[in-house]
Amino acid sequence: MAAHSPLSDLDGVFYRGADDFFREPGRPALTYDDVTLATLYSEILPRDTNLETRLHDRLHLRLPIISADMDTVTEAEMAIAMALAGGLGLIHCNLTEGQQRSAVSRVKNNVHGLIQDPIKVSPAQSIGDVLESIDQRGFGFRTFPVVEEDDRLIGLLPGHVVRPRYAATKVIDAMTPRTQVQTINVRELGKDPIARADRFFTEHIGIHKLLVVDDQDRLRGLFTISDIERIIHERQTQLKPARDDQFRLLCGAAISATRNSTGELDRDRILAHVGGLVERGVDVIAVSTAHGHTKGVGDTVALIHSEHPDLPIIAGNVTSGAGVEFLADCGANIIKIGQGPGSICTTRVVAGVGIPQLTALYIASRAAAKKGVRILADGGVTKSGDIVKALTIADAVICGGLLAGCPEAPGSIMEINGKLYKQYRGMGSLAAMKDGSAARYGHATKDTARKVAAEGIEALKEVSPPLDTVLSQLAGGLQSGMGYLGAQTLPELRDRARYIQVTAAGQRESAPHDIVEVKATS
Ligand code: XMP
Repeated sequence: MAAHSPLSDLDGVFYRGADDFFREPGRPALTYDDVTLATLYSEILPRDTNLETRLHDRLHLRLPIISADMDTVTEAEMAIAMALAGGLGLIHCNLTEGQQRSAVSRVKNNVHGLIQDPIKVSPAQSIGDVLESIDQRGFGFRTFPVVEEDDRLIGLLPGHVVRPRYAATKVIDAMTPRTQVQTINVRELGKDPIARADRFFTEHIGIHKLLVVDDQDRLRGLFTISDIERIIHERQTQLKPARDDQFRLLCGAAISATRNSTGELDRDRILAHVGGLVERGVDVIAVSTAHGHTKGVGDTVALIHSEHPDLPIIAGNVTSGAGVEFLADCGANIIKIGQGPGSICTTRVVAGVGIPQLTALYIASRAAAKKGVRILADGGVTKSGDIVKALTIADAVICGGLLAGCPEAPGSIMEINGKLYKQYRGMGSLAAMKDGSAARYGHATKDTARKVAAEGIEALKEVSPPLDTVLSQLAGGLQSGMGYLGAQTLPELRDRARYIQVTAAGQRESAPHDIVEVKATS
């Protein structure tokens, strides 16, 4: 059968491709609700769509959603849950450098198939030393292989002895000796190590750790029963985790263009901090600022790129082609687009700048294509339909407000008039800036805050279901959109999108209307 044309000639007059649509003379700047997408002939069922996006050779997401680097959105727990669902979390930088490194460690050490470089201890250490490193590096586990300097396995320190009451005891006196530790030779793992480990745990009741050794009895890895069970479960679920080439969850971290007391870029400190994050396995660094088309951000990106040429760098935020080209020339691979669309942003009100998001994305995307970099739609996403529209132009979206009510977001739950809420605040709000400045630069909080005009507000979000439920709903909406456009993949979605502008009446018609709503769907 001949390929069915997706649009008739008349359709094409009204439903326009991105270049024709956004460049039309006199077209105002538009955001998500200002447009709708035309449906096209489709042979694609939503469940057959593929949501993968490759942001860099080393950064491959299975779900094109990233949690914002905000102190009420992304710390380790959110980043773990995001990566487990196939997305990515950017750990915010209103933490001390040490806390941020620990958060990255928690994500990278969270779920493994074979943990190839397990954290180990030496026989001469005391239990007190072990407890201290658990505390400093934020490990969520307490059982450690014990090795000699040449990595030869001599025992296993079980979690039940890693307690303050035994602090003075040496590891060698508390460990389970080598003869009683279950191991497997790396050569016996075969093609499917997960299945092999799964079989081992079934056959060895009560054993929760399986150490992998080589012919010289040197430690080569570690399986844990909980990781294996989770991975087997993940193989059956819809949202697949985003992992690195060592099967560890992906994790990003934000940094700012830190300055020293004379106002110059603090190059040594930036490099030392990024180096520490890389050591912990961070997959991408985000140089995150409100105005990315600046010398400070450019110099920071160039500095990191020269020291770590293979490390993916996200930089932003910008809303112009020149901004994208500038950051790409400095060495950024992925550019954040968005100035003022965020649900807690007041940049447009306070500073009078910023561009409605869909137009900003279009302009940025053309420069990005020229430079071979990717773009992220950052801010203003309030529903799955916005994600579909954003991804007709961008490579992934960044969400703050949509995820801030999830239990995985930092912060406690509060009850107001019988309803449950979590705090959500702009990183440019007075409170967040005070915390960030105090934590990062050790300034007196009051003095730091007085110098700047806030560009964000402090707000509340109603508590929402767990992240995987929220992401499943968003992914489902995205898949529906792709089905309507006949797009199986995100590049096909970008190719096929046809836009039409809607009026205020059209927007009203787009949402439920003229009914008494008894139950919201989200
Ligand atoms: P949403 O709409 O997802 O937006 O809540 C999250 C994005 O908003 C940006 N952001 C800010 N923008 N003032 C601003 O103008 C702020 O205080 C602020 N804090 C966060 C940021 O890009 C985030 O990803």
